[in-house]
Amino acid sequence: MATASIKEVARHAGVSLGTVSNVLNRPNTVAPATRQRVLDAIAELGYVRNDSARQLRAGRSRTVAIVVLDVSNPFFTDVVRGAEQAVEEAGMMLVVCNSGEDGARERRHLELLEEQRVRGVLITPVAHGLQPDLERLHRRGIPVVLVDRGSGQASRCSVAVDDVLGGRLAMTHLLDRGHRHVAYAGGPFSIPQVADRHAGAAAALDDHPGTADLRVATTPSLTVAAGRRAAEELLTPPATDRPTAVICANDLIALGVLQHLTEQGVRVPDDVAIVGYDDIEFAGAAAVPLSSVRQPREQLGRTAALLLLEEAETGPTHRHRHVVFQPELVVRRSSDHRRS
Ligand code: RIB
Repeated sequence: MATASIKEVARHAGVSLGTVSNVLNRPNTVAPATRQRVLDAIAELGYVRNDSARQLRAGRSRTVAIVVLDVSNPFFTDVVRGAEQAVEEAGMMLVVCNSGEDGARERRHLELLEEQRVRGVLITPVAHGLQPDLERLHRRGIPVVLVDRGSGQASRCSVAVDDVLGGRLAMTHLLDRGHRHVAYAGGPFSIPQVADRHAGAAAALDDHPGTADLRVATTPSLTVAAGRRAAEELLTPPATDRPTAVICANDLIALGVLQHLTEQGVRVPDDVAIVGYDDIEFAGAAAVPLSSVRQPREQLGRTAALLLLEEAETGPTHRHRHVVFQPELVVRRSSDHRRS
């Protein structure tokens, strides 16, 4: 049903367009009786203000967007919560878009957000190649901040965690527990976070040259189902040729690995240890509480949003910054076992 126009409200209340606009935007400048007549007309006609048109005319939208990789991943729920708090404190609104780890879908979101002239975009890009799209937003005066993704770009801010260190922490912990045959489950490696975590785990092997190895079970996505399939692959070789520990690219993969191993009667951590990444709430609540490399999720979101709002206010003279948080290994029962 089409909503009434502001002209119909003015006619119905017997006032000018300017008086209706004043009631909507500067109500204290209108006499109480007149103001009430206009409000009664708005209610009777069912008029709803078109805020996006008003924001476009004013050239200053009050909407910030965040484009997340996977809206079903609790990691992003926590990142969104942090960003939302900062955006709402600034009197604006945060809208969430889900790329679903699909590059084409991510581009469609960015095109729509550009049309909407949003105040800024927070994004965890699916992979490389988004540069032209982000540059186009920049030329439109729509700032972009990368979230959970490092960047050496001079043209935009980023907020991330040192994922190479995170991978190294996980592998060093397992080597210290006596593991020498470790697997890395995760993918696609086109997602830099996945590649960096693996690189850190591989680098830690250099501390034990020739005595330990790291095999990879690449997954098509960072989901629980992909984790189950990765565990199935790791159990394929004979028991004597299987890894005794698995580092997972994120906690959803780790939960899938834990589920499949448990269903197959494999004991965690006695037969196979597991370390996840993110330390989402479900990691600690799992049937076998998961060790995980903790990311400061809400802080990631809040910091990215504050950088974006600062750039939206400052404009082209904004000094771009690249904030990198340090990860922290949280050891729980899924890897707290020393191999003899
Ligand atoms: O951003 C890519 C991945 O890194 C996400 O799946 C999230 O879990 C984080 O760990």
